Amino acid sequence: MLLIQTREQLNGYLSTLKTNESLGLIPTMGALHIGHAALVSRAIQENHYVVVSIFVNPTQFNNTDDLEKYPQSLEADMKVLESISEDIVVFAPSIEEMYSKEIKSINYDFGGLEHVMEGAFRAGHFNGVGTIVESLLTLIKPDKAYFGEKDFQQLQIIRKLTEIRKIPVEIIGCPIVREANGLAFSSRNERLSKKMRNEAAFIYKTLISAKRLFGTKSAMHVKDWVVKQFKKHPELELEYIEITQAKTLKPIIKKYKNKKYRAFIAVYAEGVRLIDNIALN
Ligand code: PAJ
Repeated sequence: MLLIQTREQLNGYLSTLKTNESLGLIPTMGALHIGHAALVSRAIQENHYVVVSIFVNPTQFNNTDDLEKYPQSLEADMKVLESISEDIVVFAPSIEEMYSKEIKSINYDFGGLEHVMEGAFRAGHFNGVGTIVESLLTLIKPDKAYFGEKDFQQLQIIRKLTEIRKIPVEIIGCPIVREANGLAFSSRNERLSKKMRNEAAFIYKTLISAKRLFGTKSAMHVKDWVVKQFKKHPELELEYIEITQAKTLKPIIKKYKNKKYRAFIAVYAEGVRLIDNIALN
């Protein structure tokens, strides 16, 4: 498996690729798990070449403690990827390689997508994500780039990013992969105690019940119901529950039959921030 750590090596590799063959990119921050592996496997099926980037991007962390605690495990990540395919190319640059001048993000206007939910609770987060994803897409120039619906708001923002910056790439959204108990796979799950990892399955269970309730009740009713459920589970501290239109992420005011809606949730468990979401119709 090829490990590339500099822009120069990367350009060398890219210059060897046949122009009529497709390149798929999966941007990650490492600490790879089965959720990431699903994106990689899909990219392998759909492309001749696959690059996985591994870079813990400092500008998207609004909390220094979260950045410091973020697991860095390049060797283990390489093993995970090797078990999927030896042909994967890993791009794992240093911070200096990605931010040559200053460790600073660009200020984007994502048309309001960035002001709600994760954007409201994590100041500057999406400017950081936009900055690094724009750099990766312009450096690597993939035909397709793969992102998980686990971070559904991020996925919509990246679609918007490629539109406003006119980046010629197809953005592919992939379904959320879950642990056996329903908890969405996340690098952060590793920080939970075994007991809490089981209890956190309550997040997805509540989302499923919310979906059922949404069939007959208003969004306001569903949100109030979710808040009440979490009050019964004080070990899981609800940060927000939102129901929005899937594409615009605008809060739902009135339910329309022909529109798609989604519920989004953020919860603290043992000080670890977990997010999840579900299609409601
Ligand atoms: P990271 O959290 O490592 O996630 C990399 C990709 O894997 C994202 O597209 C994310 O949505 C997807 N993913 C994570 N868990 C998943 C799951 N359980 N099911 C399906 N997909 C899942 O997201 C980032 O990194 C960063 O913000 C990044 C885009 C790399 C920019 O730094």
